[in-house]
Amino acid sequence: MSHHHKYVVSFFMILSSVMFVPISSHADGRGGTRNTCVNCHSKLPGSSFVGVKSHDWKGSIHQKHGVTCDKCHGGNPAATDEKTAHTGVLKSSEPRSTVYYKNIPSTCGKCHGAEYYSFTQSYHYKKLEATGGGPNCVTCHGSMVTSVLKPDDIANVCERCHNKRIGVFPYVPQKAKAVLLLLRESKALLGADRRLYHPVEGSANARHLQEAQSSLYSAKLEWHRFGLDAIIGDLERMDDSLGKLTRNRHQR
Ligand code: HEC
Ligand code: HEC
Ligand code: HEC
Ligand code: HEC
Ligand code: HEC
Repeated sequence: MSHHHKYVVSFFMILSSVMFVPISSHADGRGGTRNTCVNCHSKLPGSSFVGVKSHDWKGSIHQKHGVTCDKCHGGNPAATDEKTAHTGVLKSSEPRSTVYYKNIPSTCGKCHGAEYYSFTQSYHYKKLEATGGGPNCVTCHGSMVTSVLKPDDIANVCERCHNKRIGVFPYVPQKAKAVLLLLRESKALLGADRRLYHPVEGSANARHLQEAQSSLYSAKLEWHRFGLDAIIGDLERMDDSLGKLTRNRHQR
C-alpha cells in the first residue's frame, strides 16, 4: 500500500465519523411521509418548472435514502403552509442560497465529506471560488437525479474550456473519457471478482480483495481532484491486487 493511499483512506475514516448526518426515517419520500416539502411538491403539476425539478428527485438514490428537499434547500419540512415551509429557502440564483453554484460543493459536502475534501484540493475548486467558472458537483451528477456522467458525455463538459481554441490543456477531454472508461471497467471487474471469490476472513485472498477495494475507492476520490494520472496509478494497483487473487485462486 502506498503512502499516499494510506493517507486517503485514513482521512476518510476521520471524515466519515465526523460528517455523518442522521436522516429521519419518517421523511423517506414514499408513502406516509411527514415531510411537507415532498408532500406538497409531489402534487404540483409536472409540467411547471418547479414541478419538473421536484419530479426529478423521485426515484433518485437520495429519495431512497430519505435525503429530502430540505437537506439541500433548507426550510422547515414540518410546516404545512408554503410561506412558513419556505423560510430560508432561496432561489439558486441568490448568492446566499445553499444551492447557489458556488455553495453547492459545501452543501453536498455535509454528507459526502471525502469527495468534497478531494474536490477542494483541485484547481477547479479554486477557479470556482475565484471566478465562478469550472465544474461543480452537479455538473457531473445532476442536482436531483444524481446520476453519474457517462464517458461519452464527459468530453463535452471538459471541452467547454479544454479545447484548441482556448488552448488550456486541449488533451484533457479525450484523456478524461479514457480514464472514466477505465474507472468503470475496473469497478465492473472488482464486482465480478467479488461474486466469484468468497475468501475466509484473514486469508491472503481476503486481503487482496480488500486492497483492490481500497485502490478503487482511492481512484474515485482522486477523480474529484482531477488527478488523471494518479487515477491510472490507483487502478493499476487495483489490477495488481486482483492479479494476485487469481494466482491464489485455489488457496482460498
Ligand atoms: C404547501 C405547498 C408547499 C410546501 C409545503 C413547500 N413548497 Fe416549495 N414551492 C411550492 C410552490 C407552489 C412553489 C412555486 C412557487 C413560485 O413559483 O413562486 C415552490 C417553490 C419551491 C422552490 C423553488 C424556489 C424558487 O423561488 O424558485 C424550492 C427550492 C422549494 N419550493 C423547496 C421547498 C422546500 C425545501 C420545502 C420544505 C422545507 C418546500 N418547498 C415546501 C409549494 C410548496
Ligand atoms: C441532493 C440535494 C438536493 C435535493 C435532495 C433536492 N434538491 Fe432541488 N436542487 C438542488 C440543487 C443543487 C439545485 C440547483 C440547480 C442546478 O444548478 O442544477 C436545485 C434546484 C431546484 C429547483 C429549481 C429552482 C432553483 O432555485 O434553481 C427546484 C424547484 C428544486 N430544486 C426543488 C426541489 C424539491 C421540491 C426537492 C424535493 C422533492 C428537491 N429540490 C430536492 C439540490 C437538491
Ligand atoms: C443529507 C445528506 C446528503 C446530502 C446533503 C447529499 N447527499 Fe448524496 N447521498 C446521500 C446518501 C445517504 C446517499 C446514499 C448512500 C451512499 O451512497 O452513501 C447518497 C448518494 C449519492 C450519490 C450516489 C453514490 C452511489 O453510491 O451511487 C451521489 C453521486 C451523490 N449522493 C451526490 C450528491 C450531490 C451531488 C449532492 C449535492 C447536490 C448530494 N449528494 C447531497 C446523502 C446526501
Ligand atoms: C468531473 C465530474 C465530477 C465532479 C465535478 C464530481 N463528481 Fe462525484 N463522481 C464522478 C464520477 C465519475 C464518480 C464515480 C462513479 C462510479 O463509481 O461509477 C463519482 C462518484 C461520486 C460519489 C460516489 C462515490 C462512491 O463511493 O461510489 C459521490 C458520493 C460523489 N461522486 C459526490 C460528489 C460531490 C459531493 C461532488 C462535488 C464536491 C462531486 N461528486 C463532483 C464525477 C464527478
Ligand atoms: C470552466 C472551465 C473548465 C472546465 C469546464 C474544465 N476545466 Fe479543467 N481546467 C481549467 C483551467 C483554466 C485549468 C488550469 C490551466 C492552468 O493551469 O493554466 C484547468 C486544469 C485542468 C487540469 C490540470 C490540473 C492540474 O492541476 O495540473 C486537468 C487534469 C483538468 N483541468 C481536467 C478537467 C476535466 C477532466 C474536466 C471535465 C470534467 C475539466 N477539466 C473541465 C478550466 C476548466
